[in-house]
Order: sequence, then structure tokens, then C-alpha cells
Amino acid sequence: MRINKYIAVCGIASRRKADEIVKRGDIKVDGLRITELGFDVPDGSTVTYQGRIIKPEGRKVYVALNKPKGFITTTQDEKDRLTVLDLVKDIDERVFPVGRLDEDTSGLLILTNDGEFANKLMHPKNHVQKTYRAKVLGDFTRKREALLRKGVDIGGYITKPAEVNLIKQAPKYSIVEIKISEGKNRQVRKMFSAVGNKVMELERTAIGDVYLGGLKQGHYRKLTRQEIDRLQGEN
Ligand code: URA
Repeated sequence: MRINKYIAVCGIASRRKADEIVKRGDIKVDGLRITELGFDVPDGSTVTYQGRIIKPEGRKVYVALNKPKGFITTTQDEKDRLTVLDLVKDIDERVFPVGRLDEDTSGLLILTNDGEFANKLMHPKNHVQKTYRAKVLGDFTRKREALLRKGVDIGGYITKPAEVNLIKQAPKYSIVEIKISEGKNRQVRKMFSAVGNKVMELERTAIGDVYLGGLKQGHYRKLTRQEIDRLQGEN
């Protein structure tokens, strides 16, 4: 297997990014540093990335987790905070989260050990829609709704058109459902703040056709074959 594919199927990076990793000299095969992009990894060799052995995974696993607030989506944390991997400890395979959810956001997060699937799902060209339910401070006026639908400036970036629906208007807060296909850092919070509504609580309720449904916080379930295929645009 070519070295860039090997790195991708191990879930380290996309094939293109894998080339950069090879060029940087972070890969060793049987103890020898490899910087040649077309290098073919002989069967049975030991490959390391930054000193750690990496192996193409055997069985592929795909899970939907309901992340509670207070867990971070990076897999290692130097400050020793709780990560989402603490919630899936009984899965043997080395899964990792697909994309991110802020520490203070709850809801649907997909984890897998299938690097190619993860890269496909996150690639902007695939436009996978994510649905969020936001509790925001104050009134959510028609004007604000129209602005969010059209696109707002979140600090030098104009968001793409979004689907927006007011679910509940209470005297002091509003509950709004918003669907976006992008994933800029803290995008939903920034979008609401751009129209004058501070987000008090944020939950992701769906990724494409995968729904949180009745999954309890801190619990996870396996994705169905149909959900996996649909997320990859194959059905
Ligand atoms: N938008 C946010 O602001 N936070 C998230 O965690 C996800 C989307």
C-alpha cells in the first residue's frame, strides 16, 4: 500500500495531508525515515508516525454519541480534561471524533476508526447538513431570522444561506432550530451573536439523516449501514 493511503486508512489525515506529513519526515517504516511520496509500504512492516506505531484498522466501527457539555472533542488533552473518548471506553477499536463540538455544546457526535469516511464527511464539498437547536437570549425577530437565512458576517467570513425556524418564543428567551452545512469555529454561536442574540445553550440534533432521537446524554449507539452509506452520499 502506498504510504499516503496507509496513513489515511489509519485515520491520521487525508491522503493530501498525508503527503505533507511524509515530506515533514514524521513517518518511519521499519525504523527508517521515509520522505519519498510514492513509497510502497511492504506487507508486515512497522510504520510509526511521530514515534507511535500506526496500523490500518481491521473492523470498522461507526457510532453516534450524545455528548454532554463539559467533554472536549480532542482525543488528547494536556490539561487532563474529560474527552469524548472517556465516554466510549468499552469500544476496543481506536475511534476518534469526526469534526468537533465545543466543550459547552451538547448533542450528536459521530466517532469512527474509518479515516476515509471521516475525511469524506468533513469535506466542505460534500455539504453534509448539521442541525442545531439553540436557546438564545431575548426575542428572535423576523428580521434576525431573515438575516441568518441570508448569511451574516462572523468576523471576516459571510456564512452561506441557512435554514432557520423559530420553535418557541418565551418572554426572555427563544428556541431556534438552525441547519448549516459549514463548520467554522463556533459558527452557530457567532451567527446568533451577529444578529444580537446570545446563545445560552446549544445542542446538535442531527448530522445529515442521522438523528439524535431519544439517545440519552453520555450514551452512544452504532450507526446503521443505511446511515453510513447516506452520510457518504452513496444512497
Ligand atoms: N457551532 C458552535 O458554535 N458550536 C459548536 O459546537 C458547533 C457549531
